[in-house]
Amino acid sequence: MTEVVHTPRVFSGIQPSGGLTLGNYLGAIKRFVTMQETGIETIYCMVDLHAITVWQDPANLARATRELCAGFIASGIDPEKSILFNQSQVPEHAQLGWIFNCVARMGWMNRMTQFKDKAGKNAEAVSVGLFSYPTLMAADILIYHSTHVPVGEDQKQHIELTRDIATKFNNDYGVDFFPITEPVIEGAATRVMSLRDGSRKMSKSDPSDASRINMTDDADTIAKKIRKAKTDPDALPSEAAGLADRPEARNLVNIYAALADMTVDQVLAEAGGKQFGAFKPMLADLAVAKLSPISTEMARLMQDTAEIDRILGRGADRAQAIAAPILAKTYDIVGMVRSR
Ligand code: TYM
Repeated sequence: MTEVVHTPRVFSGIQPSGGLTLGNYLGAIKRFVTMQETGIETIYCMVDLHAITVWQDPANLARATRELCAGFIASGIDPEKSILFNQSQVPEHAQLGWIFNCVARMGWMNRMTQFKDKAGKNAEAVSVGLFSYPTLMAADILIYHSTHVPVGEDQKQHIELTRDIATKFNNDYGVDFFPITEPVIEGAATRVMSLRDGSRKMSKSDPSDASRINMTDDADTIAKKIRKAKTDPDALPSEAAGLADRPEARNLVNIYAALADMTVDQVLAEAGGKQFGAFKPMLADLAVAKLSPISTEMARLMQDTAEIDRILGRGADRAQAIAAPILAKTYDIVGMVRSR
């Protein structure tokens, strides 16, 4: 079998469930912007079908989808350069998702740690969609033959599953059709932690609002949350190794590095020896300087939702133009009769 070389193509998605956090921005969107500027084709999706794996109030879902679109654009995603759309408008995702439900094995799905975390003790009462979610995620990626997927650390296992699904499909049908996608998990902020507990991920579902910075927080709120962030009593070390057993300190330095486009060692070369009483105001100033323009622009864009819908619609057309022929070819490979 000759190996097909796939043209590089980037895909990633974010759920429009609740607002955007600093974790989403640093772990995902900011890096999406960098990839957009490399000249590789970039496709970014608001995964509304994923969001409804847990209950979403319809009006809130619609608002969160548009607000997420505004967040992408305000952060630097150019809807002409990148393809920007919401998942439900390109039905090929769900169609390929069904095929992948029939490729993925129960044993693989049972190992997904995110399902276990999210379902908790309640596994009997959660939706079937929450369990099969990763096969739809594999379809999101592979319906575009995407080769690279920028994500935060927490999505790594799902990308590994995507690779397993592509490999099994190719083997079962004796084809070299789907690429084996590379996760791109890079930079200082691939796992931004809670401001209240350095052992937990910063998340929009954390009941404590003080645990996270929301992209819609105003300057005072951002500064206050950073001032109150949990830390330890020691001064900052002058090298990254000194942060090994200090999760809260490491988190704040990582956030600083990611916001400032510096390495952790560069930050510590400047800030090593400082107490948190001095470092936190530096971080707060930086965070406000970087995030305020984004939240202001998001609010401005949200005043014209018709324009947002137009952008999403145009993105969906461009996305579908890539997805439809790949789905048709998949159906041919699987043996679905083309009756019309
Ligand atoms: P979601 O919506 O939970 O998060 C979107 C992106 O933000 C990253 N992220 C973080 N990165 C660093 N630190 C954090 N605290 C943090 N919190 C979130 C996530 O890693 C992710 O990159 N299953 C995905 C959505 C999805 C998807 C896809 C992603 C659906 N289909 C296809 C890539 C490709 C999710 O729930 O992300």
